[in-house]
Amino acid sequence: MLEFRNVTKRFETPGGQEVNVLQDVSFTIEDDEFCVVVGPSGCGKSTLLNLALGLIPASVGEVIHNGKTVNSIVSSDVGYITQDANLLPWSTVLENIMSPLEIRGVPKNERREKAMEWAVAVGLEKFVDFYPGQLSGGMQKRCSIARTMVYDPAMIYMDEPFGPLDAITRTILQETLLNLWQSKRKTILFITHDLVEAIALGDTVVVMHGQPGMVKTRIPIPLSRPREIRHLAASSEFVELHTKIWSYLEPAANQQEENELI
Ligand SMILES: Nc1ncnc2c1ncn2[C@@H]1O[C@H](COP(=O)(O)OP(=O)(O)OP(=O)(O)O)[C@@H](O)[C@H]1O
Ligand SMILES: [Mg+2]
Repeated sequence: MLEFRNVTKRFETPGGQEVNVLQDVSFTIEDDEFCVVVGPSGCGKSTLLNLALGLIPASVGEVIHNGKTVNSIVSSDVGYITQDANLLPWSTVLENIMSPLEIRGVPKNERREKAMEWAVAVGLEKFVDFYPGQLSGGMQKRCSIARTMVYDPAMIYMDEPFGPLDAITRTILQETLLNLWQSKRKTILFITHDLVEAIALGDTVVVMHGQPGMVKTRIPIPLSRPREIRHLAASSEFVELHTKIWSYLEPAANQQEENELI
């Protein structure tokens, strides 16, 4: 469904210098895969998503979506959930969930019906007439997930969507997301810097490091599904995966490699 092929991205610094923020990044995401990219702050995770969405061009290499090179904004059949819920403040929960259907010309009755279905699916049925400012952070996030799922995109990009939430709300939302993903079968590219979240959710974890950002390794997560996230961290399989991936993220391991490159 999506491939990064030898992608390098250069940006100009405020001082006018060109720097590589991503270097020779290659990996593939299969149809219906839940792929998580994990890496430290500044290693280029959000830049990867911006490239995949066609918001910025690659300096070298290419991003291929459904067999076509991405060279303009990809708007059809993709969803994008960011760290901020980005809801329309003057619209109610139901209106927010309906808004992508309105843009797509879906008739009013059908819009209401579908939006209501998704409000129920994310547990917001009692809050459909509330405005975003009257919701908690977790509820806003539920609303933004429903607003994306309602138009049924095949591919969903998520950039640290649960970052600012407390641990309990996060876990509940992660479980909601996994349930939705399992029933609707979507391809997801999920960005996080939280290793526990990465292992709990993903079929595959792509580990990035460094500045410039590079793919260090790509690790399959063989934990069975459905996963009960709240109990997962206690299992020995989980601990093993955590230790393994953490060893790739440890600054000392990367420092050694960088020294070898010099
Ligand atoms: N438009 C831009 N112009 C110049 N530099 C940029 C631009 N966008 C991002 N960068 C630089 O690219 C690097 C990677 O940024 P990016 O936002 O992709 O990191 P990230 O891995 O998502 O970090 P975080 O986990 O903190 O969100 C940073 O050094 C940043 O300063
Ligand atoms: Mg980011």
